[in-house]
Amino acid sequence: MAIEIEDPILRLDDLVGGYGRLTILNGCTFPVARAAITTVIGPNGAGKSTTFKAIFGMLKIASGRVLFEGEDITRASQAILLKKGICYVPQGRNIFQELSVRDNLEMGGIALGSEAAMRSKVEEALDRFTILRQKQKAQASTLSGGQQKLLEIARGLMAQPKLMLIDEPSIGLSPLMVKDVFATLQQLRDQGMSILMVEQNARSALEISDYGVVLETGRMRMIGKAQDILNDPRVARMFLGAEVELDEA
Ligand SMILES: Nc1ncnc2c1ncn2[C@@H]1O[C@H](COP(=O)(O)OP(=O)(O)O)[C@@H](O)[C@H]1O
Ligand SMILES: [Mg+2]
Repeated sequence: MAIEIEDPILRLDDLVGGYGRLTILNGCTFPVARAAITTVIGPNGAGKSTTFKAIFGMLKIASGRVLFEGEDITRASQAILLKKGICYVPQGRNIFQELSVRDNLEMGGIALGSEAAMRSKVEEALDRFTILRQKQKAQASTLSGGQQKLLEIARGLMAQPKLMLIDEPSIGLSPLMVKDVFATLQQLRDQGMSILMVEQNARSALEISDYGVVLETGRMRMIGKAQDILNDPRVARMFLGAEVELDEA
């Protein structure tokens, strides 16, 4: 399965890279559409998180390129990537636990330059996430796992990104919070944000996505409309835990 994405916001082009002498990405190529949610699925260890690290300047890249809005950003520093409009929400908990919710948001707006710009972005974040407004003075560690993930997303938004990379946001969250986080991503997409997500929770993630990418052994194996990926019998067999009828001989 393959599709054309016209004028993608991001494109990985034959990326090869890994850790030390260990090559994980073996010529990884795929485009990421604008104002859409693209979900990457694939077996454990396929290189999904590594792909994000490669995009976000955290991996030794041997060859290949990362293009953002047509511009080569391979090996760019994180400061530059943030400035260009890419934010990265890694797997797990990445907020400052001892700081207040509000202080966490302010940390995300450091690059905004002026105090006024920062305050107005914090207000925008608190308008979007009412739970964060209610808890703005609370220590971040008192938030539930799902609320912390929303705070991470909100903090990422402080830098006014065009593209959000988000790695396994649903991990460890209650089904209700997963719904909340996914609904937030859909809302951001509807407002024009481009989102590249990795998810183990493949079915739920694809259901809210526009495009799906299947990654295996550091390569893109399949790319398509999320609905088509969901309906693909091979994908179902491998990742969706579905009962699939075998073709009759
Ligand atoms: N920091 C690291 N150093 C060495 N190997 C790593 C490191 N991080 C991940 N790996 C290896 O890279 C491979 C891909 O990992 P990863 O990208 O995290 O997979 P996925 O996110 O698809 O589950 C795995 O074999 C993993 O053990
Ligand atoms: Mg991973």
